[in-house]
Amino acid sequence: MAHDHEHDHGHHHHGHGHHDHADIDWAEMGPLLEAQAELFTPLYERALAWLAKRQTDPGLIVDAGSGPGVVACLLAEAFPGARVVAVDGTEPLLERAGARAKRLGVADRFATLSGDLPEILGDLNYPADLLWASRSLHHLGDQRAALAAFAGHLAPGGTLALMEGGLPSRFLPRDIGIGRPGLQARLDVLEEEWFAEMRSSLPGAVAETEDWPALMTAAGLKPTGTRSFLLDLPAPATGRARAYIAASLSRLRDAFGDQLDATDRATLDRLLDPDDKASVHHRPDVFILAAHTVHTATRTL
Ligand SMILES: C[S@@+](CC[C@H](N)C(=O)[O-])C[C@H]1O[C@@H](n2cnc3c(N)ncnc32)[C@H](O)[C@@H]1O
Repeated sequence: MAHDHEHDHGHHHHGHGHHDHADIDWAEMGPLLEAQAELFTPLYERALAWLAKRQTDPGLIVDAGSGPGVVACLLAEAFPGARVVAVDGTEPLLERAGARAKRLGVADRFATLSGDLPEILGDLNYPADLLWASRSLHHLGDQRAALAAFAGHLAPGGTLALMEGGLPSRFLPRDIGIGRPGLQARLDVLEEEWFAEMRSSLPGAVAETEDWPALMTAAGLKPTGTRSFLLDLPAPATGRARAYIAASLSRLRDAFGDQLDATDRATLDRLLDPDDKASVHHRPDVFILAAHTVHTATRTL
């Protein structure tokens, strides 16, 4: 089982070996979420092109858990006849989304709605023809109930597109010539543990088997497809990719540094030191390889 949550852990480290798992500071995550989504734009564009074949000409698109709105704006561009509403619980992220829509010249058919998912969807004036939820459902305590609410806000014939799961991203070869090979795999294990604790500490947390098409069926929808999309930015990475990789590894260092052994901690420190030739800022072998999965389902009546 893999989650595509590897860069979501904006939780505070209180310095007492205590992690406040549900307390993610989303506003603080804004710049990283935005840089990440910008870097992942080729992946999203392919996912949206695939979606456009199953939901032609939607009138209203809702991006549930839009964050800073990079994908919401891509949705506006991919579906020029649609109005897009970016919905999120973090107001500062929606401000970024609105500013982006303005910059891209799509503000006239772009709106934001701030509040807690899924309840806030009740404030929508119309049902959605396309409801996109990317890496947001797994931050809601009761995913089954949230999916039922998402389904309830779809127009007949409308599509729910859920981006959940995929593979943990890779930035480095297995053996990087310093430290012990397999550092990223060991970080993945810590992230899985973090993710499980994050989920179980959410308000109203319900354990759920993450069979997304089955859960969509239980929500009264008809699953129509599952596909994974790759981001493949080979080495040598660009400056932008390196900055993103450094930001990601630095978050991992902050979140899990105390759970790594001394060798891995030292390796991570070298990878993050801009003055070290072996760091991700300079080494020639850094890349980004990521896979995100999209599941679609339609409301038949
Ligand atoms: C990992 S980010 C995903 C952002 C964007 N969809 C993407 O794929 O890059 C999760 C988003 O869900 C929002 N979120 C988390 N819990 C929420 C809740 N209970 N109600 C509304 N939004 C929530 C956060 O503010 C954040 O913007």
